[in-house]
Amino acid sequence: MQHSAEEQLVKYLTDAHAVEAQALAQMRAAPRIAADDRLARAFREHLTETEGHERTLRARLAAHDADPSRVKDVAGRGGGWGMILFARSQSDATGKLTAHAFSYESMEVATYGLLGAAATSAGDVETAAAAAAIGTEERQMGKRLASLFDVAVEASLREVAGDDLTAHLDRYLKDAHALEQQAEQLLKVATRLVDDEGLASIFESHLRQTRDHLRRVEGRLRARGTGPSRTKDLALRIGALNVGGFFAVQPDTTVKLSGFAYAFENLEVAVYQLVRRVAERASDPETATMAAEISGEEGATAESIAGTWTRVMGDRMAALSDAGARPGAP
Ligand SMILES: [Fe+2]
Ligand SMILES: [Fe+2]
Ligand SMILES: [Fe+2]
Repeated sequence: MQHSAEEQLVKYLTDAHAVEAQALAQMRAAPRIAADDRLARAFREHLTETEGHERTLRARLAAHDADPSRVKDVAGRGGGWGMILFARSQSDATGKLTAHAFSYESMEVATYGLLGAAATSAGDVETAAAAAAIGTEERQMGKRLASLFDVAVEASLREVAGDDLTAHLDRYLKDAHALEQQAEQLLKVATRLVDDEGLASIFESHLRQTRDHLRRVEGRLRARGTGPSRTKDLALRIGALNVGGFFAVQPDTTVKLSGFAYAFENLEVAVYQLVRRVAERASDPETATMAAEISGEEGATAESIAGTWTRVMGDRMAALSDAGARPGAP
């Protein structure tokens, strides 16, 4: 009767294993990119924790007579390198690396929040406990990174030495504008794709908020005598189309989007935390205040999304159990 729910739980375990395979690649490369010892140390410490997460998942998979999926793991590792290459190719590698690393930890928090809910629905107490324990370490790593935002900003300002602070802040604001445009595209699609009313209404109200953020960021750019970057906006808009297409073909769209959106909102949290700090150093208090306010709204949205995980996953697993229980069901 639990057959398909059991299969789905194993699938979530292999997904989580692929996420950790990618995390391992990132934690090995990140200390070399981070232009500050304290950041490098945080990454090295989390590498040890990440190795533990990988072993735990392997053990939970073995308990279900399953192996990590090699195909997914290879894709995961490739993605890990992709992110690192992205960070390295940019000026301000340390700032970008820190924001992405913070978002990646959020993605892991979502992965384990959802895995724990799936395990609980399937009656797998050990996996639920493992997910809770790993999730706690991912949250702690996220907090450690957040406590190093000042360090990251100082390091990235050293990297752009010679370049003036004004241009640096303008670039951050243009990046934020492009990210908000991507958010707008994704939210428009996501609202239509999810089959959970609560999640859809969070997306809808955050779509309105996102349009307000776009106006506010553009307002600050204009006040500073510049404007959004068409190239950056366009690049991320195309990225959003690809991501939208990816989610549309997933059998598990609502669950996947509830995790992805949480990580995306936390990427915005980190970006605005960095904008705020750069703006303070560039003596632009209006921009600093705006960034702090928007960051708070992104964070609150992320937490509302996290509040849907138990229900979204419970519904998904219950549907699978019902299908498995129906006479003649595969
Ligand atoms: Fe992990
Ligand atoms: Fe992690
Ligand atoms: Fe947002």
